[in-house]
Amino acid sequence: MSGPIIGKIDPAQIGVLREALPRFRFKPLSHLPYLKRAQVECYWMDEISEAVTDASSATFVASVSDRIVGFAIYAESPWDIRVIGRRIGAIKHLAAEAENSSDGNVVQALVEETVRHAAQCGIECLTAKVHSRDTATIHALERNGFLLMDTLVHYVFDFSRIPFDRVVAPRRTSGLSTRLGTPADLSEILEIAERAFKNHFGRYNADARMPPDAAKDVYLEWARSSFSGWADWITIAEVRGRIVGYAIWKKASALEAKHALDIFHYNLVAIHPHFVGRGVFAILTYDGMRMFREYANHFTAPTHVTHSSVHRICFELGWQITSARHSFHKWLTP
Ligand SMILES: CC(C)(COP(=O)(O)OP(=O)(O)OC[C@H]1O[C@@H](n2cnc3c(N)ncnc32)[C@H](O)[C@@H]1OP(=O)(O)O)[C@@H](O)C(=O)NCCC(=O)NCCS
Repeated sequence: MSGPIIGKIDPAQIGVLREALPRFRFKPLSHLPYLKRAQVECYWMDEISEAVTDASSATFVASVSDRIVGFAIYAESPWDIRVIGRRIGAIKHLAAEAENSSDGNVVQALVEETVRHAAQCGIECLTAKVHSRDTATIHALERNGFLLMDTLVHYVFDFSRIPFDRVVAPRRTSGLSTRLGTPADLSEILEIAERAFKNHFGRYNADARMPPDAAKDVYLEWARSSFSGWADWITIAEVRGRIVGYAIWKKASALEAKHALDIFHYNLVAIHPHFVGRGVFAILTYDGMRMFREYANHFTAPTHVTHSSVHRICFELGWQITSARHSFHKWLTP
């Protein structure tokens, strides 16, 4: 087989990918195993069409004998750029046909072209998230100089299999209660975020080239933006009137609802370090499941692979690991 030809396409031509998507092995939403293939591919095409409306995006297509065998979509990460103050971009989509990508040829060529483009745009750091079983892509990124930063494990709780009344309620520490948060709670939440994530392990902490406060700034901004529209609810845990933890919850996005994905997102939790190990996370999770269970049958939650107490509580409450993704970073500037 001769090598793939890599070409850049305009947003107006993006429809050419539609017939190729069914041939790609690693698709988005792999953590939602109940979805039908056609549902995933229709969602993916809409997600791609949305991604290319971003003025900073660029789409590269790999072809062999006029057949599309892979593609990559790059775009700037405005949130990271604003919060961290460095020029950060992402490979938002990267896929290749299994039969043409077993030797990593196609995906390697796509990565090289995307990196070249990002460097020309003045990007300092390029990021990518990859399915944990997609070894061709993992090897192509590593050969190109990307470094593994962290691994996110995706949990799903399926209410259609386990009704809420069959979930065993965790032991409730005396004086512990939960409620919905309000903007008046923000200053206490920011203090908890700062303390809880100080010694956290995540891709912002793991990357030695990130500015020293990057991780802290990201988690503070995450809490702040959750009260200004990014999330739908914040739940608060209190011990005798003092806020000791919070959890962030989000309804399905407009695109997820359009494709009837039937999901609800459990995004992030932080517990004040003085109150860890007292069942606060367990109760925040259990009470949130009770409060929001009418919104969808499938609750999803990402967590870092290193969070053993999160894993234990999730298993006890009946959540299951359905997928995992690795985060890679490559710094393009010396
Ligand atoms: C990770 C984190 C959320 C865990 O929160 P937590 O409130 O300490 O979790 P819990 O107390 O519910 O569970 C922790 C341990 O306490 C035990 N526990 C639960 N209920 C208990 C109770 N009533 N009394 C005593 N111990 C209890 C659990 O069995 C668990 O034990 P294990 O670690 O041996 O499995 C918290 O440490 C944190 O905020 N970390 C920093 C931020 C972060 O990493 N967030 C997660 C992002 S997904």
